[in-house]
Amino acid sequence: MLKFDDEFIFGTATSSFQIEGATYRDGRTPSIWDEFCKKPGKVRNGDTGDVACEHYIRYEEDIELIKELGVNSYRFSIAWPRIFPEQGVFNEAGMAFYRNLVIGLVDAGIKPVATLYHWDLPMWAYEKGGWLNRESVVWFLEYAQKCFEELDSYVDSWITHNEPWCASFLSYHLGVHAPGHRNIEEGLKAAHYILLSHGKVVEYYKNQFHGQKPIGITLNLAPVYSASESFEDQLAANNKDGYTNRWFLDAIFKGTYPADMVNLFSKQVHSFSFIEKDDLEVISIPCDFFGINYYARELVEFDSLSPTLSTEAYSNYPKTGMGWDVSPKEFKELIYRLRKEYTELPIYITENGAAYDDVLLDDGRVHDAERTKYLEEHLQAIHELNEDGQRVAGYYLWSLFDNFEWAFGYEKRFGIMYVDFNTQKRYWKDSARRYQEIVSKRELSMQISVK
Ligand code: FCB
Repeated sequence: MLKFDDEFIFGTATSSFQIEGATYRDGRTPSIWDEFCKKPGKVRNGDTGDVACEHYIRYEEDIELIKELGVNSYRFSIAWPRIFPEQGVFNEAGMAFYRNLVIGLVDAGIKPVATLYHWDLPMWAYEKGGWLNRESVVWFLEYAQKCFEELDSYVDSWITHNEPWCASFLSYHLGVHAPGHRNIEEGLKAAHYILLSHGKVVEYYKNQFHGQKPIGITLNLAPVYSASESFEDQLAANNKDGYTNRWFLDAIFKGTYPADMVNLFSKQVHSFSFIEKDDLEVISIPCDFFGINYYARELVEFDSLSPTLSTEAYSNYPKTGMGWDVSPKEFKELIYRLRKEYTELPIYITENGAAYDDVLLDDGRVHDAERTKYLEEHLQAIHELNEDGQRVAGYYLWSLFDNFEWAFGYEKRFGIMYVDFNTQKRYWKDSARRYQEIVSKRELSMQISVK
C-alpha cells in the first residue's frame, strides 16, 4: 500500500484558451492563438478556441465536477486579453469571471492555483512586437499587478509562466505554436523577455505588493538520452538537453545561460545584446516552489543539419497517443538531477498526463486503461521519490477535460473527463474514477516497479 501524506496536494490542471471558449464575450479581444487558428494548415482540422469546452459559461458545473473528483487543488490560467483587451485598458467584466471562479473554488474547498501566462498573448501586444519587444516585460507586469490586486486573497499560489520553452522556442524558433515564427534569434529573445518578465513579477510581488502566497514558475522538462554511446550521439544529447532544459534551468537557478549553448547559438545569432546587465540577476530571483510539467523522456541521435545537431531517434518504449515515450523511470532520474544540480525548493508536478484514442461507449463510459496505467505509474514514481526524501509536494493531472490541444486541435484527448464537443456533455472516463479513488484514500494500492 503506497500512502501519500496529508500535506501532499492532489490536483488537476487546465488552461484558459484550451477550455474557456466564449472568445468574444465580455470584452475579450483576440490573442495570438485566435489569429494562429485562422491560418491554413497551422491547427489540425482548422479547429479554433471559439467554443472549446465552454468553460467560461459552464464554470459553476465544472467546479462541481472538480469537487466530486475530490482533488485538493485546481490549476487554471488567466486569459490576459480578458483582463487587458487593449493596452492599459482594464476590463472588469473579464476579471469578474476569474473572481467568481476562484471564489467558487474556495467555497468548494479547492485551492486555486493561478497561472498568469499560458500562451494567450493579446494581439495588441503582438502587434507592438510581442515577446520580441523588451516593453513586453512592462506590459506583463502591469497585467500581473492587476491580477494580484483582484485575486490574491483567494488564490492559493501563483505561477508566472507556463513552459517558457513552448512560448519562445516552439513558437518563435520552430514555428509550431503561435505566432509561428521560424527564427532562432527571435526564439532566444522571446525566451529572454519571458524569463525577465517572470523575474520582474516575482520581484514586484514579494517586495512591493508584499504578497504572502507562494509564487513560482513552471518549466516543461524532458530528460534527454543519447541513442548510442558514440561521441556524436552524446554531443547531440548534450545540446538537446541545453536547448530544452538547461537554457531555462541555468537562467532561473544559476543566473546564467549555459556557455556551450551560447557558443552553439552564436553561429546563427547576430548579437546577444538583448541580454542586458543585471537581467539574469532578476531572472534568478528566488521563488517559493518550482513547477515541472513532465510528459516524456527524449531519445536523440546526431544530425549535422539541425541547429542543435540532434534529432529524435527510434525508441522502442510504449507510446502515448502523441507518440511520446511512457517513461516514469526517467521522470525519477529527472527529479534526482534537479535536486543534485539545481534546487532545494518544493517541487510540484504542475502537469502530467497522456492522450489516447478514447472511445465513448453507448453507456457513457470510456475504458481508458492505458491512461489509468500512465497515471498510476507516475504517481508510484512520485511516491518512491518521496520515500527517498526528494520532496515532491504535489501532482496536477493534465487534464481535467479533453480540450483544445494547440496545433493538434481537438484531435488529441488528454482529459480524464471525456467531452462530447457537439453537446458539451462531460463523461467520467475510467481514469477519472480511478483518480477519484486514489485521491480519496490518499493511497495507491498497487505494486508496479518504476525502478
Ligand atoms: C503542455 C501544455 C498544456 C498541454 C499539454 C499536453 O505542454 O502546457 O497546455 O498542451 O502540454
